Amino acid sequence: MRLLFIGDVVGDRGVHMIETYLPQLKRDYKPQATIVNGENSTPVGRGISQAIYKTLLASGADVVTMGNHTWDNKEIFEFIDGTTKLVRPANYPGKDVPGRGWTQLKVNQATLAVINLQGRVFLPPLDDPFTAADALVTEIRKTTPIIFLDFHAEATSEKRAMATYLQGKVSAVVGTHTHVQTTDGQILPGGTAFMTDAGMTGPDNGILGMQSEGVISRFLTQRPTRYVVDEDEKSILSGCVIDINDQNGQATKIKPILISDAHPYFN
Ligand SMILES: [Fe+2]
Repeated sequence: MRLLFIGDVVGDRGVHMIETYLPQLKRDYKPQATIVNGENSTPVGRGISQAIYKTLLASGADVVTMGNHTWDNKEIFEFIDGTTKLVRPANYPGKDVPGRGWTQLKVNQATLAVINLQGRVFLPPLDDPFTAADALVTEIRKTTPIIFLDFHAEATSEKRAMATYLQGKVSAVVGTHTHVQTTDGQILPGGTAFMTDAGMTGPDNGILGMQSEGVISRFLTQRPTRYVVDEDEKSILSGCVIDINDQNGQATKIKPILISDAHPYFN
């Protein structure tokens, strides 16, 4: 099967890029499943609303993954338990965490499992994502070898370590959260597709989707400043396409997707 993954959708411009390009990407690449990271998709760049979640699905997403901003828009508590297509990090501590950390969907005759995990380097101390991945992958592989992991993490080393730790056991490990697409897309031994970060989808000016002034001011003053989503029309969409052998779950190809003023979409 072919998967399309789109990295962190930021603010209104990110949602607009999804509405504009996702139908076109689906027509051109013909993925059987599409996964979109929506943890920054509200107008303020933190969390998700039900309306935006529905817009992402209506634009062609089959599963929406999250990250460290999962709970920032409180509205999520009203709908996360009522859907199987919204996946938050599986390694939150404690019992009775709302929502789910992984989901599965039927794709033709095969079953695709989608897991979301969050790293712990320079991020809140959730439960160990490696141990959580171990337990989940062992359980899921009883049903299907086709497993996609969105590893939402800050540190390159943690993302690479997770991919190497899981190589041969999952179809793909794709990093999110750092908002800059990396050029290291590759197939690891055992058929695990890996890319350190898929990159972001949203404003292409500013700093990682936010207006520059607040970000620079925080570096200069070491005082808290308000981060505001940049609303300049210049926009970017980042992601990747992954081909997977349905029989053994091994990835055969990973191709980056990048659409911006510097990289116009032709295909
Ligand atoms: Fe994040």
